[in-house]
Amino acid sequence: MARLELHIGDITKLAVDAIVNAANEALRGGGGVDGAIHRAAGPELLKECIAIGGCPTGEARITGGYRLPARHVIHTVGPVWRGGGAGEEALLASCYRTSLRLAAEHGVTSIAFPAISTGVYGFPPERAAPIAVAAVRAHAYPQLRRVIFCCFNDAAAAHYRPLLAK
Ligand code: AR6
Repeated sequence: MARLELHIGDITKLAVDAIVNAANEALRGGGGVDGAIHRAAGPELLKECIAIGGCPTGEARITGGYRLPARHVIHTVGPVWRGGGAGEEALLASCYRTSLRLAAEHGVTSIAFPAISTGVYGFPPERAAPIAVAAVRAHAYPQLRRVIFCCFNDAAAAHYRPLLAK
């Protein structure tokens, strides 16, 4: 069974098999965690993303990690929050599920997720955290040893702590 951990800090520093990127449908880089990952990985990452061509909301694509300590980057596109009535919760769960499916196919044993959609895309973090933890618990696969929920600050981490204590 995979161990679920909480980490406060920059996801680009984590030496895990795969880190997950909160990308956009164009996969052309952007701000937030996406910008940080592209800066740390170097320009080859953008080249590979452009070759992939894009990714619909709720799905995921995998690339190399280039200059990152992580071997792979799994790019997933979270939903933009539109008030909760536009299928946002199901789409967010789908991001975690499809990212884990790709990770399993690539033999990933350790993975780190940022708090997908909770920045620029405006998903309320207190609603996103239980979706993230439930989706990971439901879709963890036998080879998966470690799952890190990487939060940028303590306020974000506070939404995960009670869930991981259970
Ligand atoms: N490490 C870990 N978490 C981070 C880091 C980092 N280096 N940087 C930011 N976060 P966001 P979204 C946190 O906006 O809401 C981009 O422009 C941040 O505090 O990065 O899914 C894309 O290209 C927040 O909690 O992603 C898309 O256009 C979380 O990561 C759009 O933003 C997600 O915030 C995606 O928006």
